[in-house]
Amino acid sequence: MIHSHYDLQYVRNQFPNIGDLAFFENAGGTYVPSTVSDRIYDYMRRNQVQPGSSYSASAEAMERISRSHRQLAEMINAKPSEVIVGHSTTMNVYVLANALRPSLTAGDEVIVTNLDHEANVGSWRRLAESGIVVKEWKIDRETAELGGPQELEKLLTDRTRLVCCTWCSNITGTINDIQAITELAHSAGALVCADAVAYAPHRALDFRKSNVDFLLFSLYKLYGPHLGVLCGKQSILLDLENQNHFFFTRSALPQKLQPGGYLHETAASIEGIVEYFDQVFSHHYKKSDTSISARYAKVFELFTQHEDKVARPFMEYLNSKTNVRIIGIPEIDYTRRVSTISFTVEGQRHSEIAANLGEQNIGIGVGDFYARRCIDALNLHPGGVVRVSMVHYNSEQEVTRLIKALDQVL
Ligand SMILES: Cc1ncc(COP(=O)(O)O)c(C=O)c1O
Repeated sequence: MIHSHYDLQYVRNQFPNIGDLAFFENAGGTYVPSTVSDRIYDYMRRNQVQPGSSYSASAEAMERISRSHRQLAEMINAKPSEVIVGHSTTMNVYVLANALRPSLTAGDEVIVTNLDHEANVGSWRRLAESGIVVKEWKIDRETAELGGPQELEKLLTDRTRLVCCTWCSNITGTINDIQAITELAHSAGALVCADAVAYAPHRALDFRKSNVDFLLFSLYKLYGPHLGVLCGKQSILLDLENQNHFFFTRSALPQKLQPGGYLHETAASIEGIVEYFDQVFSHHYKKSDTSISARYAKVFELFTQHEDKVARPFMEYLNSKTNVRIIGIPEIDYTRRVSTISFTVEGQRHSEIAANLGEQNIGIGVGDFYARRCIDALNLHPGGVVRVSMVHYNSEQEVTRLIKALDQVL
């Protein structure tokens, strides 16, 4: 049973950061609810010791980290052994590419896109040093879209081993049909590495259902601490080379792909993300004993509805301005895009627009956001794009403020 309305005030109350700043740089990193920040603080005060020994502070530290890991896996419908937590997505891909390299032979092919953030490109491109042929799936310069699986089909051969593609662009907000892409890649015998970093703040992930072989996302853009997650199918992960100390065996999952470990206090706070989604669920739905993943999926249905509602007037506003070019789909449609909206403004310095809004306590982003190849392909240097990204805690009032402030500048 759904609440008659989405209780935005309830949601906003969970985030201590929310105040006068109208924050629209969520695609760069989201706020964290107190369920997360309190856990970091509490862990450091009570459990800041080496985890895994028998004394109570240490045993409890281990239990907090392990519980977080299990809950994260359950949330995204993966096995705990399939979930690798690392410092960032960029680092996770670096480790993955090195672990995969020995199983590739010269002449094998890897496909990357020029839409992706460099995190899911650079480490794959370096495989060329080992004789791997790297092919680029290019965006259309008018639409900034990859053009769907039919475009990918042209690049696939019997030597293709891997397709690396973003699930959602951090510039355009366009959602790619990752299931169709995966089906096609699999039919050609290739694996898929999908970057869901820009997707995860807006839609629930289901690793099993997506059927991708490797799934990437960053917890600091999912209302959590600064960590990256790499999820991989167990049978494939088991085949990868150990990247950790020599005494970790091939079957040591996830440790063999976590060289150097990660910050314990942040790892222990991951269950705070799950708790936050659970709280939002309980507040809006009649209590029921559904799974963590089902509750998380339900909560994101609410978030999606709300995001579409707040993004709509902004998109209408941009469409009314003749000096604005929207990069990507120029309409709000939750089936095709998320509420990350980028645009360019003719004859204006983007950095000055951001500085002007910053003076009015409105946070937006400008630049290439490390999707450098996309910005290059669209010929948008040096200023890149202006990016406004809204998530489920943004309010209509904040959007009204944004439009008013922008209207004085555009
Ligand atoms: C789509 C996308 N992929 C990957 C990354 C890189 O993530 P990380 O900072 O965790 O390396 C980002 C960061 O902005 C991103 O937006």
